[in-house]
Amino acid sequence: EKGTYPHYMLKEMDEQPTVIRKIIQAYEGENGELAIDADILKALRAANRLYIIAAGTSYHAGLIGKQYFEKMAGIPVEVHISSEFGYNMPLLSERPLFIFITQSGETADSRQVLVKIKELGYPTLTITNVPGSTLSREADHTLLLHAGPEIAVASTKAYVAQVAVLAVAAYVTAKANGTGLEFDLKQELAIAANGIQTIIDSKDVLEDIAEDYLKIARNAFFIGRNIDFYVSLEGALKLKEISYIQAEGFAGGELKHGTIALIEEGTPVFALVTQEDVALNIRGNVKEVTARGAYPCIIAMAGVDEDGDRLVIPHVHELLTPLVSVVPLQLISYYAALHRRCDVDKPRNLAKSVTVE
Ligand code: F6R
Repeated sequence: EKGTYPHYMLKEMDEQPTVIRKIIQAYEGENGELAIDADILKALRAANRLYIIAAGTSYHAGLIGKQYFEKMAGIPVEVHISSEFGYNMPLLSERPLFIFITQSGETADSRQVLVKIKELGYPTLTITNVPGSTLSREADHTLLLHAGPEIAVASTKAYVAQVAVLAVAAYVTAKANGTGLEFDLKQELAIAANGIQTIIDSKDVLEDIAEDYLKIARNAFFIGRNIDFYVSLEGALKLKEISYIQAEGFAGGELKHGTIALIEEGTPVFALVTQEDVALNIRGNVKEVTARGAYPCIIAMAGVDEDGDRLVIPHVHELLTPLVSVVPLQLISYYAALHRRCDVDKPRNLAKSVTVE
């Protein structure tokens, strides 16, 4: 039930800190350390390459999962859009493990790949929010998101849960393999949960940004580098699906290879700046678009921020920034949709789970 909330989407965004805390609890082993099921850990450790299969928002979470498994655990990862996988089946490694990321566990495009992979006899793991869902039942293993039912068509808390569970899985695998990780993920996730809460508590600021930048905009761009690029894809998808504003997410460095031609006087450009190693470069991209008339909105993380940034979000571990940086983008989309009188929870042309291929 949405109770006193005007929309499920707002309720579900508000639940995000709680969802992360639930994940910490759900994945706590007997010794208080983060843990996953022994069979799943065995499957992850046995694989020499992971193939992540997903669609939409879950695909965007998968891109971040690739960074987690590669950077924490040193396991190579490929991320595939489920509807494309069949046409371009990659050459598989010797010991692949297929990971299906799906909030609903019912997405036909992803299931089609699962069926094919099972025929081929490779091991499979589904990461889903819905216990007993089709992709959960049909895969060898399941990791649950513990996000609670997600009713709004636009996925918010499930995305945050997917990113958090992927972090846990990569971290636990890395620890088991003796890869020297120097941070305590449990503690960092708790810090991220608090960071999200801080953003949620200052929603008014995001409502102002939405009105200022998007009330009458025809299009918008989201840019970032490194992990921020993946979050910019998700920010653009959220805006498209609920406010119907044409929006694209881009790698900051890619703009000048064509897309910058679309920048006009007043075009909103949201730039994420959470990664220290690329902060200067992405700020350079902001200057390029501003010089061509864009109306830039820099969303920077504390510690990498500068005077004049429109929004500063709380500092979190550099790998966990997507958990926090996606939240202002979700809220901006939400308020943009309200300002434009769109049906936030049930956008046109969309269904919560896409059970056709
Ligand atoms: C976007 C959204 C969709 C889903 C996609 C996959 O807000 O909800 O892009 O992420 O249809 O759905 P699942 O994760 O259920 O497989």
